Amino acid sequence: MNGDKYKVVITDNDFENTDIEEKVLSEINCEIIKAQAKNEEELLQVCSDADGLIVQYAPITEKVINHMTKCRVISRYGIGVDTIDLKAAKLKDIKVCNVPDYCIDEVADHCLALILGLARKVVKLSNSVRSEIWDTIGVGKPIFNLKVQTLGLVGFGKIPQNLYPKVRYIFNDILIYDPFIPEALIEQYSIKIASFYEILRSCDFISIHCPLNETTKYLFGKREFQLMKPTAYIINTSRGAIINTSELYQAIRNGLIAGAGLDVLEKEPPGMDFELSKFDNVIITPHAGFYSESALDDLKYKTALNVLKVLKGEEAINVVN
Ligand SMILES: NC(=O)c1ccc[n+]([C@@H]2O[C@H](COP(=O)([O-])OP(=O)(O)OC[C@H]3O[C@@H](n4cnc5c(N)ncnc54)[C@H](O)[C@@H]3O)[C@@H](O)[C@H]2O)c1
Repeated sequence: MNGDKYKVVITDNDFENTDIEEKVLSEINCEIIKAQAKNEEELLQVCSDADGLIVQYAPITEKVINHMTKCRVISRYGIGVDTIDLKAAKLKDIKVCNVPDYCIDEVADHCLALILGLARKVVKLSNSVRSEIWDTIGVGKPIFNLKVQTLGLVGFGKIPQNLYPKVRYIFNDILIYDPFIPEALIEQYSIKIASFYEILRSCDFISIHCPLNETTKYLFGKREFQLMKPTAYIINTSRGAIINTSELYQAIRNGLIAGAGLDVLEKEPPGMDFELSKFDNVIITPHAGFYSESALDDLKYKTALNVLKVLKGEEAINVVN
């Protein structure tokens, strides 16, 4: 605080404006600096006397954190906080906040769009019409009725819990694999639990919703694709590296599985992964699952609210460290 005025630095963002953040923070006497600082050097110049930071992609390293003399809160637009040195922040008693629940409807709907787009061969059929080919069965075959198909969900957190009621009436059967699922949730949703092996062997669509960590990196590789049905699709709206991309490429090229719907890739924007988008049984979207106009407003509101609450000495909505 400068006298009785706080200083909040919005280190960087790619939004059109920060009206929502400014409105939230107008509750306290606060100067807002919009910096667009992208690297350590630029951050050191703008952050030293900040009481709070609002951050999008800028790397909040140990050096940046140690350079700040009175910062109490770092609030990130988004869920992941891997751009922030949590240990260094903890040592300086700086609260690191995120927004874990701002786009649940959007990702669930995006996942459903990928599932239905693959099942109904929307992209393939549309591309053939664009090439002036008017042929349903010749281009689309085989298309199956989803009422006789099985969907597998890997992970049953917030997003698949939102998806589940939407797909319950579409699919004949839905199987869930989540080794950490609480018993109460199984009862609440009356879901069918399966082993990972059962999901691989019996599902026609497998949708990934677990977090990326040491145990889930490359959860799907050559062996898993070999176990899947050749008519099965894999959908990933979680994190790219849960799938081994080059093994997925081989699996699709060799017909081990029927195709894939990917909103996330190992490397974003993609390098070699672009090759995957050339298959007409693969749909790739550019990490778009989170996006809707209202989801962005919600994200901006909650990110600023975290800062406001900490500076007012109240409990933030979500602290990660
Ligand atoms: N595409 C996008 O734009 C977008 C947007 C938001 C979130 N996401 C991603 O979606 C994923 C799911 O989000 P969420 O909010 O549902 O997560 P969540 O934290 O609510 O739930 C994660 C679930 O995964 C389960 N899990 C952990 N390890 C597992 C394993 N090895 N196998 C199976 N399940 C496991 C946990 O028990 C938990 O139920 C996250 O990785 C998140 O980063 C993507």
